[in-house]
Amino acid sequence: MNDPNDLAAFLELGWQRLTRGVVDRRSAARHPVFATVSPLGLPEARTVVLRAASRGDGTVEVHTDGGSDKISSLKVNPRAQLMIWDETAKLQIRLSTSVTIKQGAEVSDRWQNVPDGSRMAYGASPKPGTPIPESYAYTKLASRDWFTVLVCHIESIELMQLIDPHRRAVFKASEAWKGEWRVP
Ligand SMILES: Cc1cc2nc3c(=O)[nH]c(=O)nc-3n(C[C@H](O)[C@H](O)[C@H](O)COP(=O)(O)O)c2cc1C
Repeated sequence: MNDPNDLAAFLELGWQRLTRGVVDRRSAARHPVFATVSPLGLPEARTVVLRAASRGDGTVEVHTDGGSDKISSLKVNPRAQLMIWDETAKLQIRLSTSVTIKQGAEVSDRWQNVPDGSRMAYGASPKPGTPIPESYAYTKLASRDWFTVLVCHIESIELMQLIDPHRRAVFKASEAWKGEWRVP
């Protein structure tokens, strides 16, 4: 490591590890934990695939089924935190975001790029989460109508690195990503 106090270099490392997740199926950032708050105010976390990450726009994207419970939650509280533990870099990345839900014509470009085999993930009858009498008592619809893109606008990035000694910093969009060190 060069200067351990170099905030810009630390943020650069975070973005390097994050953007790698979009292209490298085996990288840690491929599968963030995506946490929301339920309409009852309860925490709910699940694994997702990181589909896009843009440092310029300050956004990351996740694709999901528009009928899933996370959509009901995001309609009430459009906030999500994405969390990644990247063991190679010994780095925990936490993105606090505000989420825009996009469907239909707005996301037809993304739908065109979803391989046929992966379209199964979008649309189910009955809806995802519905109790069913047997494990396979459902049909996957592979439906463009249910294909939903969650555009997550990053408000802050927290990096925690488990090197010796540990380092932790928070970078906020509202402060032009300047960043500040925090006690780990
Ligand atoms: C490795 C892995 C990747 C997943 N990727 C996604 C994904 O990209 N989008 C998604 O909506 N669900 C994905 N899931 C399923 C979610 O973890 C979750 O079970 C599902 O979205 C329903 O969550 P909800 O009821 O809280 O909305 C993935 C699960 C695993 C294990």
